[in-house]
Amino acid sequence: MKPLEIAKDIYWLGVIDWNIRDMHGYSTPYGTTYNSFLIVDEKIALIDTVKKEFADELIDSIGQIVDPKEIDYVISNHSEMDHSGGLPRVMHRIGEDKPLYCSKMGFKNLRHHFGRKWTCQPVENGEQLSLGKRTLTFLETRMLHWPDSMFTYVKEDKILFSSDAFGQHYAGLERFDDQVGDAIMPHAKKYFANILLLYSRLILKLVGKVKKMGLALDMICPDHGIIWRQDPSKIINAYVEWSTQTPKRKAVVVYDTMWHSTETMAEAIVETLGEEGMDARPMHLRQCDRSDIMTEVLDAGAVIVGSPTLNNGLFPTVSDFLTYMKGLRPKNKIGAAFGSYGWSGEAVKLINKELEAMKFELIDPGVKVQYVPEDQGLKACYQLGKKIAQALSSAYG
Ligand code: FEO
Repeated sequence: MKPLEIAKDIYWLGVIDWNIRDMHGYSTPYGTTYNSFLIVDEKIALIDTVKKEFADELIDSIGQIVDPKEIDYVISNHSEMDHSGGLPRVMHRIGEDKPLYCSKMGFKNLRHHFGRKWTCQPVENGEQLSLGKRTLTFLETRMLHWPDSMFTYVKEDKILFSSDAFGQHYAGLERFDDQVGDAIMPHAKKYFANILLLYSRLILKLVGKVKKMGLALDMICPDHGIIWRQDPSKIINAYVEWSTQTPKRKAVVVYDTMWHSTETMAEAIVETLGEEGMDARPMHLRQCDRSDIMTEVLDAGAVIVGSPTLNNGLFPTVSDFLTYMKGLRPKNKIGAAFGSYGWSGEAVKLINKELEAMKFELIDPGVKVQYVPEDQGLKACYQLGKKIAQALSSAYG
């Protein structure tokens, strides 16, 4: 892509990855971008690079603004490979002796990834680097979402380079929020639910700290997706809302099925929830990606999980989902289990154990149906649906 001047002498130099469909287990049906930025001042600074396979494209973009050798400083806000994989080629072109600024943890991580190749300069939280007319301020954001993550702030332009935070996996020709409108929010929400949810407490703390500092923000430039310039507070407020994990009168019924019995149970539970005025949807684990399910889980008050018993255990996709959800540590959820079985029927007990480990409020021992749900089995599913609706009503109004 051609570079784009996003503010005077500040350029977006990202690349668009139109074809990526899976980012370490997160589905990316719209692709993504890897955003890199160039600040041309008395000194020239490059902020973050791109995935290894796009390094030459980035070097070509830099070359459209300045000779890469003229770059004085490289800033690495985050060492994950989608932003650092291009460093070896880029540093080779810029000059291996150029200083590479990163957080203290970034210093360690870059060495783990690339050895002791470059002149890495670990910075303290709040440390500044003058470019001439502008000053960069480095803000440590440890565990948002890696130990090395940091932000770089340019106070003269009121621009925050926020690394992964506030990003979206969205590939498009648009570069700014005002060009996409509200359609960008589901992408930002999915990104939050699958990458940042487990750090909700830290996010609330960070937002509080940033508000206290009175950081003026005209633009937030994440490393993925569009730049927030129309109303940067919109995404900050959304992060606060998502981090507080205030549940809605909504249930997600996640399941897999072998011969449609567990599916029939899922649909019976959802139907009852709907009759009771709740927002509810069944999500089949081989038809819906786990990352889309997690997006629905984010603001749901109830997560109901169904699995057939297979070889005395859970159906594999259900185990996969429970492991994934557990890692993201959703809070404030009501939980329940259901499933059909042939002769042993361990699935419900196993799901309950996992939901308890996630500190979900189990509102029922769960519904087990042998082979095919008929009158009694369906009645038990309707009753479970009613019980979930009552629990949602009394908990969340
Ligand atoms: Fe976009 Fe944590 O890398």
